Amino acid sequence: MNVFIAGANGQIGQHFLRELADSDHQTRAMVRHSEQGPELQKLGADEVVLGDLEKDCSDAMKGCDVVVFAAGSGPDTGPDKTTQVDQDGAIRLIDSAKAMGIERFIIVSSVGAEEPDNGPEKLRHYLQAKHNADEHLKSSGLNYTIVRPGQLTNDEGTGKVAVSTGHEHTGKIPRQDVARVLLAALDTTTADNRVFYVVSGSTPVTEALAKL
Ligand SMILES: NC(=O)c1ccc[n+]([C@@H]2O[C@H](COP(=O)([O-])OP(=O)(O)OC[C@H]3O[C@@H](n4cnc5c(N)ncnc54)[C@H](OP(=O)(O)O)[C@@H]3O)[C@@H](O)[C@H]2O)c1
Repeated sequence: MNVFIAGANGQIGQHFLRELADSDHQTRAMVRHSEQGPELQKLGADEVVLGDLEKDCSDAMKGCDVVVFAAGSGPDTGPDKTTQVDQDGAIRLIDSAKAMGIERFIIVSSVGAEEPDNGPEKLRHYLQAKHNADEHLKSSGLNYTIVRPGQLTNDEGTGKVAVSTGHEHTGKIPRQDVARVLLAALDTTTADNRVFYVVSGSTPVTEALAKL
């Protein structure tokens, strides 16, 4: 498959490119700044394209089969950017994918996005943005996979996770393992039209997704 990655220069995005390098998939990494390209090509990106989620990215997506949204405005920006990137940027990309006939869309959401009002006060705006993007994707008609990781860490991945559709598990997960989950989601139909939660656990990633 031709995989379009929004947020390719991010921490999960870079792990995802490394994981994809050993796969049969072709990768198109979208970045905001051209100087980010060479490093991503070293990691295995087949193509690098420029794009900003605050604008129309349709041209950058042409010819791809699946979109993976691993972007986010990050902790150093205010609520305005959370709305513009995590919510509106994702929604615009979902609509563009649909308009361009790209049928599959995988998004990195967050634990807590199911009920933003129940989250910690300081995270509610962020969780609401994730929630709104997820709901838009669910009702888009695209084949969706919504991945809701627990707290992200930079620990080395173990390749073993706990996956649930009802948020039974809480905890942390290394970004590297989230990237492995994204790769496994690409390669299985069990992740089609599913929302699931993932934290570190004891089940190998592909086995965990096969049981969804
Ligand atoms: N922190 C947690 O514990 C936690 C838990 C669950 C889920 N998440 C979610 O996991 C996702 C990925 O996390 P991460 O740690 O890999 O994030 P990250 O390292 O901050 O990467 C985010 C990426 O998004 C890109 N980006 C931001 N604004 C953009 C825009 N306007 N247009 C295009 N790209 C844009 C950034 O580009 P630049 O490289 O140019 O800055 C960066 O590459 C995020 O959606 C986050 O909300 C986080």
